[in-house]
Amino acid sequence: MRVAVIGAGYVGLVTGVGLATVGHDVTCVEINASRVAAINAGHSPLHEPGLTERLRGVLAAGRFRAVSALPPAVRAAQVILICVGTPSAPTGEIDLQAVQGAAQQIGQALRQVQGYRVVVVKSTVIPGTTEDIVGPAVWAAAGQGPEDIGLAMNPEFLREGHALSDFLEPDRIVVGAIDERAAGVMRELYAPFNAPLIVTNPRTAEMIKYTSNALLATLISFSNQIAAICEATPDVDVEAVMDAVHMDRRLTPVIDGQPVQPGVLTYLRAGAGFGGSCLPKDVKALRAYARAVNAPTELLDAVLAINDQRPRHLISLAEHALGSLTGRTVAVLGLTFKPGTDDLRDSPALRVVELLQEAGAHVRSYDPMITPDNAVQHGLLIGANGDGIDVCASVREALTDADAALITTGWRDFASLDWSEMASVMRMPIVVDGRRILDGARGLEGVTHLKIGYRAKS
Ligand code: UGA
Repeated sequence: MRVAVIGAGYVGLVTGVGLATVGHDVTCVEINASRVAAINAGHSPLHEPGLTERLRGVLAAGRFRAVSALPPAVRAAQVILICVGTPSAPTGEIDLQAVQGAAQQIGQALRQVQGYRVVVVKSTVIPGTTEDIVGPAVWAAAGQGPEDIGLAMNPEFLREGHALSDFLEPDRIVVGAIDERAAGVMRELYAPFNAPLIVTNPRTAEMIKYTSNALLATLISFSNQIAAICEATPDVDVEAVMDAVHMDRRLTPVIDGQPVQPGVLTYLRAGAGFGGSCLPKDVKALRAYARAVNAPTELLDAVLAINDQRPRHLISLAEHALGSLTGRTVAVLGLTFKPGTDDLRDSPALRVVELLQEAGAHVRSYDPMITPDNAVQHGLLIGANGDGIDVCASVREALTDADAALITTGWRDFASLDWSEMASVMRMPIVVDGRRILDGARGLEGVTHLKIGYRAKS
């Protein structure tokens, strides 16, 4: 099928390359000219495993291209996917400007164009947006109706760091279509995929997306609250508790007599809190929507409040060991919102840095993906005197003369270090493990190793 994807950001590019991989002919429309050039030259602007290779493959096969001009791509397509951003406003509501702009341009491009096609919203939008805002905008600008231009909502479930495999081997594909004709086109689009296809109405599809992310966020905040209770109960380790909880067959299914451990992916791991471009934004948007329709929000309120406290809680562990943080040097290990990505959006680690600086500490940071050379490009303000972040080129450099270290992102690199060697360069060997990755690491004997979710018997 001929497909146009509007927006070559994270979702758009992965979706476009994924659909081209399974045989569709895809044109990505992107306003940023340098991004268009990079993509057509086979350089993925995103750090995502396997994406560059796949991009080069579909470019070489002639089934994929990026362009700046929207009208020709839209006119030639049977399916048009809207994959533009829906950023958060300060109130938590999503900003629909880009979605509305895309809808209008698509409609204008289809004016007086014959032939049935379907416009699909892939951007994350609150229930009602596709039917009440996008559809009417497209139809009005095109001077046509739903019998000429079909409408569907098709949420994405892509994890950063696994986006391509999540796209090509999805758990489920959700399609909210306004009628059977639009649903039929979507069935054809997803025919090459071996996954359950859930066909529903657009509002339900929109709600499925928010509910999925709200559940993950709820599990994480639940785990963080249990961790706090464990810390108040000497000799009870949240990791041991959660390992046993996991063994419930509803969380760890038994297949052929063997338990299938989902590991960290169950979202029951306590830590520094959830970040990234999706979970915080989506929970806030769902709460704002619930308030707007006079529905209850107390659980979502608690999920967000618990998450907000996590960076401060991590710091309080260091404070407990050191006393005041004023004038202390603290190493922050990990800046990205999770391992396996270079994404700093809504990262709990950045909040930790901010709070440490507010407490008068001198902060030195290290992250495998954020270097002194690329930090500015990642939007960080660099500075060694509290006016920005002091980004170091190695863990050792960050730890040199530090009074304490805080692990804020669960990079495995930190677990494979020899901590007796690391401790030898620190002024005080205090390590707060905010992601519980150091259990079993080498050389921790002489280190004051403080963990989220555990307090030893005194
Ligand atoms: C999330 C969802 O997992 C995807 O299913 C969804 O499609 C995507 O948002 C989206 O809406 O586009 P992602 O933002 O890549 O994906 O992040 P996750 O891997 O889910 O991690 C989110 C945060 O939770 C991270 O900060 C991570 O460190 C934290 N986390 C995760 C925990 O603190 N504990 C856990 O047990 C799991």
